[in-house]
Parts: sequence; C-alpha cells; structure tokens
Amino acid sequence: MSKCLICKTEIAPFMSFGKMPIANGFLPPEQFKDEPFFKLDAAFCDNCKMAQLTELVDRDKMFHENYAFYSSTSAGMAEHFKEFAKLVKSSYLPKKKPFVVEIGSNDGILLRHFASAAINYLGIEPSANVAKAAGDNGINTVCEFFEEKSAARIAAEHGKADAFLGANVMCHIPYIHSVLNGIDALLKPEGVVIFEDPYLGDILEKTSYDQIYDEHAFYFAARSVSYLFERHGFELADVMPQDVHGGSMRYVLARKGTRKVSDAVPALLKKEEALGIGRPDTYERFRTNVEASRTELVKLLKEMQQAKKSVAGYAATSKSTTVLNYCGIGPDLVEYISDTTPIKQGKYSPGMHIPIRPYDDFKEKYPDYALLFGWNHAREIMEKERDFRRAGGKWIVYVPRVQVL
Ligand code: SAH
Ligand code: TMP
Ligand code: ZN
Repeated sequence: MSKCLICKTEIAPFMSFGKMPIANGFLPPEQFKDEPFFKLDAAFCDNCKMAQLTELVDRDKMFHENYAFYSSTSAGMAEHFKEFAKLVKSSYLPKKKPFVVEIGSNDGILLRHFASAAINYLGIEPSANVAKAAGDNGINTVCEFFEEKSAARIAAEHGKADAFLGANVMCHIPYIHSVLNGIDALLKPEGVVIFEDPYLGDILEKTSYDQIYDEHAFYFAARSVSYLFERHGFELADVMPQDVHGGSMRYVLARKGTRKVSDAVPALLKKEEALGIGRPDTYERFRTNVEASRTELVKLLKEMQQAKKSVAGYAATSKSTTVLNYCGIGPDLVEYISDTTPIKQGKYSPGMHIPIRPYDDFKEKYPDYALLFGWNHAREIMEKERDFRRAGGKWIVYVPRVQVL
C-alpha cells in the first residue's frame, strides 16, 4: 500500500499502466539499453479526494538541462498566456509596485507580458535549457526547484510577492506541502495564488488517460485543491475553466478571509459531486473506458497496417508516451512522429522507439493517416493542416473516443 501524498491515508491504485519510460525522455539509439522504466499506477484517496500517482520518478530525471518541452512551440498557448497575464494585471495586482513570481516559467511564455509592461517579476525554472531560453529572451529567471527552502531565500533576496503564478506545474510537484509552505513564506499577507492544470473532471469525462504520466503527480479538482490549501491556511476564492490542454481549471487562492469567495466555487464543488469525482466507482468506470479505448485504437491501427496505409504520429507530446507504451504501439504501426521541437527531432520516442522527424518530413510527403497525439492543440493544428485534408489525408484521434476524422 502507498500513502496519499496529501493526507497520508493508505491508498491503492485503481489502475496500473504497467512499466513506463520517462514521458519526455526522447532518446538516441545509443541510450536504448540504459533507458529507465518505472511503474505507472494511478490512485484516488477516498479521504482527501486527491487523484495521484503512487510511484514517483526522481525530479532530476525529469527536469534537467535537456528538458524536451518548450512552452512556446504552440501559437495557441502563446495567445492563452497573453490573456492570462492580462487578467492578472487587470484584476489581481495592487496599483503600487507589484511583484509577480511564476514557477515552472519555462521559456518565459507568460512572464514576457509582465516584462513588457515593466512590472517587477521573477521566474523560477529548474530545467536549465528552457530557463536559458527565457534568459536569452531577457526574462529574469532563476534556475532552481521551488520548494520551502528556495522560497525563503527568494523572499529574502527579492522581497515578498503580490501574486504567485503557475501553469501546468503545481500538478508536477509531489512535495506539494513544501511548495505550500514556500508560498506561505513568499507571499504577502494579501497576496494571491493563481494556477492552472489539466482538470480531473475533463480527464474522467473524456477518458483522456494520456494525461497520466510521470510528470503529473496529481490530477486536481476544486475539491482536492481546496482541501490541500485549507491545510495551509488558504481558501479557494475562484475557479475558471480553461479550454487548453484538453480542459484545464484555473484556481485562485488567498489566505482565509482576505478575499471574497466567488459563487463559481460552490457551484463547481456541486458539479464535481454530481460527476462522482469523490467516489471510487467513478475511477473503476474510468479504467474500463481506458481499456476499451486501447482495444479500439490498436484494432484501428492494425486495420490500417493490413490495408497497407501509412500512419504517422502528429506531435510528439509527453502524453503520447503513455498511449504508445500502454497500447504497445511501435514503429510497425506508426512509422514516425512529426514534431516541431528541434531537441526532439532525430531522437526516438521513449519506450517504443518510434523515430521523431522534423515537421518538414510530414509536409513534404503526407501519410495516409495522421494520429493526432497533440489533440489538445487540435484547433490550431487542423487549421494549419487544411492541405493535408485536401490531399486526402485523414486524422485519427482517440479523445474523447477513437475515431477517424
Ligand atoms: N508553465 C509552462 C511550462 C509547463 S511544463 C507551460 O504551461 O507551458 C512544467 C515546468 O515546470 C517545467 O519547465 C519544469 O522544469 C518546471 N518545474 C518542475 N518542478 C518545478 C519546481 N519544483 N519549481 C519550479 N518549476 C518546476
Ligand atoms: P503539449 O501537448 O505537451 O503542449 O506538447 C506539444 C508538442 O507538440 C510539442 O512537442 C510541439 C508539438 N507540436 C507540433 O509538432 N506541431 C504543432 O503544430 C503544435 C501546436 C505542437
Ligand atoms: Zn489523501
């Protein structure tokens, strides 16, 4: 039995995905023989209602100087973060000399909007290559992991923050109590925490099991986030659904009693109750749906193979590592994966070792079918790839269900 990362209650996995490689561990052939694997098991805590992983990968194995994910590879996300910054500036910062801190600031996709508005800010990003990309763009970034220890030092060096921001990072941090202690040390008494992550409600509803991988230690919902922060003297003050990353939730938190709680909070808690987010049988159903999705996807790809149709993957997302390894999809079924990120190109997908090729390869010779691993960017990608459709190409998607479009 494992213990819940939040409340220490004993928990048992509702689902095991089997052995998995590092989701962002794209690698050259000479590293195949030393490739690390771990057990990917997801559990739900009946006490505090947090969905989480039970086996964790050491953070230094995931976030380092060769981190493969650069935030600015999606134009849609750049637009999303521009709006995020606009909201923070207009509604959450004091007039006088505000100071904004962001963790997991990556290549500076959000912070650049504070820099250009001459607002005092600091990024905290442990993956050296993406932190350097931010630095090269003139974005103030310290390269380290945020936690209680670093928070005290940052507060002493830079002063206390009015706003503490995070996007797709809080759910990456299993030592979350240390982060919350850090926030407590770094945030001014009236300060606000605003963060967003893929939303558990969407994952369950859409069977988007590919959100489950090593980096995602938690699958948040209003219920569990509220419980976690309350333990540290904070209160969930607002929630705002976002349509990015297949359905995300933005959470606004402040010290208890310092901010009016929006009606959206009790409304979402009620909705989560109806959705069964707090009930074990919901996770059993999810597992059944995941297994059915795997069966259908593999069946479809085998049919393509028999019909001698070419299939290429589109976007070597971290999510794709779960799908490929869980379904056992290798280069025999998906010839290559096209991706625009230079650090991934020429390497192979973790575990199943499908070649990652530059986007030009896709453009120059369209496959018969493109398996959309970047389904969270579907609108942006399908718009960009109108010619692929015109040339007779078809999309294969698997969220919310397996289908050919
Ligand atoms: N915010 C960006 C990047 C998300 S990827 C976006 O939404 O696109 C997650 C990022 O969090 C990675 O760049 C990783 O290096 C960083 N990270 C992981 N653990 C962290 C920690 N303890 N403190 C700060 N950043 C962390
Ligand atoms: P994400 O789903 O974790 O945001 O990862 C996005 C990946 O998809 C990243 O490796 C870049 C790639 N990508 C493309 O190859 N083409 C595109 O048009 C987009 C939007 C992303
Ligand atoms: Zn718990």
